[in-house]
Formats: sequence, structure tokens, C-alpha cells
Amino acid sequence: MEVIARTNELYKFHEVQGEKQAILRGISLSVAHGEFVCIMGPSGSGKSTLLHLISGLDQPSAGEVELGGAALAKLAPDERTLLRRRTVGYVFQFFNLLPNLTVLENVGLPLAIAGSGPEREEARLRELLARLGLAGKERSVPHQLSGGERQRVSIARALAGGQPLLLCDEPTGNLSQKAGLEVMQLLRRCRDEEGRALLLVTHNPRDAVFADRVLFLVDGVLSADRELAGPGLKVEDVHAALSALHI
Ligand SMILES: Nc1ncnc2c1ncn2[C@@H]1O[C@H](COP(=O)(O)OP(=O)(O)OP(=O)(O)O)[C@@H](O)[C@H]1O
Ligand SMILES: [Mg+2]
Repeated sequence: MEVIARTNELYKFHEVQGEKQAILRGISLSVAHGEFVCIMGPSGSGKSTLLHLISGLDQPSAGEVELGGAALAKLAPDERTLLRRRTVGYVFQFFNLLPNLTVLENVGLPLAIAGSGPEREEARLRELLARLGLAGKERSVPHQLSGGERQRVSIARALAGGQPLLLCDEPTGNLSQKAGLEVMQLLRRCRDEEGRALLLVTHNPRDAVFADRVLFLVDGVLSADRELAGPGLKVEDVHAALSALHI
């Protein structure tokens, strides 16, 4: 199995009111090229922390992360940044849009940073925005958009760069059921038609059934005996696993 991202015995401690707390306590996880993995877990269980570590945006307290075949700890910060830009499209839980850039500029920013003029790609970016229901919003700036629209802009930005791994942190958290379903179908097509790998964090069992595997993060560890495997996962299966784990 060729792996796009791997963690080995990953630990993360945070200082909470002067006390060291273990958020992640030995996470070993592999995501294969073209695989769609979902992680579920209670609020505060460390899901966003795990995605930050895998992308190299944050450093583990112990353990290793391998991204695109490279051990992140062995890279200098600028090399890590370059590897992340090349390898990861990131849908942040809180969007991280740049407030002074238009929708089109936000979505084109990764391409601009990578040195390919987004102007040349404008038609493709507009088409991507239209697929996300954002036609006509290209010239808006983030504060003129609803929460759901901002979320879809951040999804468009993550998809625009064509990276082999998509890290998606609650990508449907602010969307209606219908818009959420459309986003999940779009993400699934990234896997099926483009062979991209996805690591999805969600609270929604309706999102989880799109994945090849569903893992549960509880008390800082991935609960191995509860892992669910697709295809053909049912929403009820996910609900049952969540309630068995008291999530
Ligand atoms: N920089 C930080 N300093 C101290 N504690 C932190 C920091 N970042 C996160 N934490 C703590 O780590 C825990 C995990 O946070 P994280 O954001 O990863 O949770 P989550 O599973 O993504 O939750 P949610 O489902 O609500 O998004 C939380 O208790 C949080 O308070
Ligand atoms: Mg989170």
C-alpha cells in the first residue's frame, strides 16, 4: 500500500491552566493514496489537532508524521511549508479566508503562491465556484458572505490546487443538509475520478458514509475495535458505533 500520510505513535500535550494535558496519546494512522478516511470523535477530542500535525502546521510532542513519503521532523520549516503546499489541500474548520481578498482571489491564492498565474486558470476556478453554488459571488469579500458560503469558498480553495491529499475539517458544519450532501458528493468524486486521498473530520454520520473507513478518536486514541469499513456503510451503522462509544 502506497501511503500519502502516516503517523506513528503521535502524542500531543497542551498546557491547560498550567497543567500538561495529553490530547493525543499514541496515534498511528495511515492514509493510502486515493483512500478516503473519516475520523469522528467528541468535541475537544483532538481531531483538528491531528489534522494540524499531519499537515505540518503544528509539531507533535512525540512521535512521527510522514507526509508524501517525507518525515516532517527531518525537514526545515521552509521545506515543510513547500511540502505542505505541494501535498495538501486544507479545508479549515474556521475557513481561514483572507478578509481583504475577493472570493476568486482567495480561491486562486494557492495557485498564485505556487507561481502559476491564477488569471490563466480563471475559467476553471469560476467553474469550481459554480459547482459549489457560488456563481455570482466571485467579486464578494468574505464578510459579505454567509457562514455556509464562506465554508464553500474554503472548500473551493482546497480543491483548486489539485494536491493528492485533502484534509477536510468539518467541511459541512455550516451547510444545509442539501448543500452538505452536494459537497460530500463533490469530495467523493475527487477520490473516485482524480484518485485524491481524503482525511475527513465530521460529526455527521451522513458525511461519514462516503468514506472507505471510519475511525473513532476517543480519549486520545483511535478506537481500533470500532473501525467501520465501506463501501456501503449505512448511516445507522455509524450512529450505532457512536452511541456504543458514548459520542
Ligand atoms: N493551542 C492550544 N493550547 C492549549 N490547548 C489547546 C490548544 N489547541 C487545542 N487545545 C485543546 O486541545 C483539545 C483538542 O482540541 P481540538 O481543536 O483538536 O478538538 P476537536 O476534536 O477538533 O474539537 P471540535 O470537534 O470541537 O472541533 C481541546 O481541549 C482544546 O482546548
Ligand atoms: Mg475541531
